[in-house]
Amino acid sequence: MGIINVNIDKIYGRASQAEVDALKGEIEAANRMLYDGSGKGGDFLGWVSLPGRIGSEELEAVEACARSLASLADVIVVIGIGGSYLGTKAVYEAMNDSFQLLRKKQDRPLLLFAGQNLSEDYLSELLAAVKPYRIAAIVISKSGTTTEPAVAFRLIKEEIESRYGKAEASKRIVAVTDAKRGALRTLATQEGYATFVIPDNVGGRYSVLTPVGLLPLAAAGVRIGELVRGAQDMEKATGTDVPFERNPSALYAAARTALYRKGCKIEILGSYDPKLLYVAEWWKQLYGESEGKEGKGIFPASVTLTADLHSMGQYIQQGERTLMETIVSIGHPKHTLKIASDADNLDGLNYLAGKRIGEVNRMAEMGTMLAHVDGGVPNIRIELPELDEYYLGALLYFFEKACGMSGYALGVNPFDQPGVEAYKKNMFALLGKPGYEEQGEELRKRL
Ligand code: PA5
Repeated sequence: MGIINVNIDKIYGRASQAEVDALKGEIEAANRMLYDGSGKGGDFLGWVSLPGRIGSEELEAVEACARSLASLADVIVVIGIGGSYLGTKAVYEAMNDSFQLLRKKQDRPLLLFAGQNLSEDYLSELLAAVKPYRIAAIVISKSGTTTEPAVAFRLIKEEIESRYGKAEASKRIVAVTDAKRGALRTLATQEGYATFVIPDNVGGRYSVLTPVGLLPLAAAGVRIGELVRGAQDMEKATGTDVPFERNPSALYAAARTALYRKGCKIEILGSYDPKLLYVAEWWKQLYGESEGKEGKGIFPASVTLTADLHSMGQYIQQGERTLMETIVSIGHPKHTLKIASDADNLDGLNYLAGKRIGEVNRMAEMGTMLAHVDGGVPNIRIELPELDEYYLGALLYFFEKACGMSGYALGVNPFDQPGVEAYKKNMFALLGKPGYEEQGEELRKRL
């Protein structure tokens, strides 16, 4: 087994092995394009060899800033949306104790997130919740002009400044943004915030391994060196010199492309550990924004199992046969917990006595896989030995690389998101932003 194993045996009812093998040339060519920049979006390929370029100096600079924030705050509000939010949230949720909030003693600051919605209630409750705690903020926006994080930052900045004064606030706020452009860069320079740069050639949804993800994660005590090491090893494992059959990203890209061409228009990413819920959210953004354009693309959906077997499970088993399922499967849980025997056995569970919960979960996973495959839903399994920073870093890069290849196989530019602008224009027009007066008038008539 490689770092991550990709098992595509259970797709063969829908797409044949010959059909997957026939994609070898196309996928290998796509991988080469990711390195030579000859494909669409060639200016946004900085992420491809990013892990290998992250040196100890860069990591130490991030860690030093993270330590400084951690020494000042019990709670760090991380402000960002889309690619400036989901990667951090995904790794944080996967690595954090699920019940951290209830722990009396926090070794590291808690991360709370803002800027990924415009909910007045969410933001009010956040401001109220942080009142008793020492706070700091990391504000992240590549463009530096995105409305949601800008609104949240204005509120959090005011809270920090009114509590600590402007001079102290500048020590408690760090900005991660473009090197030169954007309102956030201007503001950070003027206010004297420490800053980290999001490289020009790394798009938001491919930026988790830049300070976008590394800084808040380090502040929360996540071992970012291990995260990067996993990504570095996966970068090597998916290089152009690795044969198709042994390149996990190539296999995954080929399998899902073959299935798409056989009518599987929806891919459900599932896992049997709720810790991976936000990895699925991150994955949905990565694939949805990269592939969903020009009237094409697999629709990325997600489920958390076994919970969703009691909701979406019905549809997956017997609904429209346009689905494929990709399961991120974790080999070994971190903890050991066994089911005890009960003298009365009123719940009838004694047949499970002595078994680990993880074993029960595994059998649920295996049974479900076979049921779904029998029901006409092809299954791809992505197997990780365990869930730690190393394997998570490998998984994130694995998905990024496969996304680039899949996007090129689909014939789209996997590194732009022109469709995201449509809602912004309407929102600006309806809010009366200067320059949008005419559109505002038109839109209001239609409401
Ligand atoms: O992938 C992307 O580029 C987007 O999802 C962005 O990350 C998102 O729109 C946030 O943009 P910004 O970081 O410029 O505020």
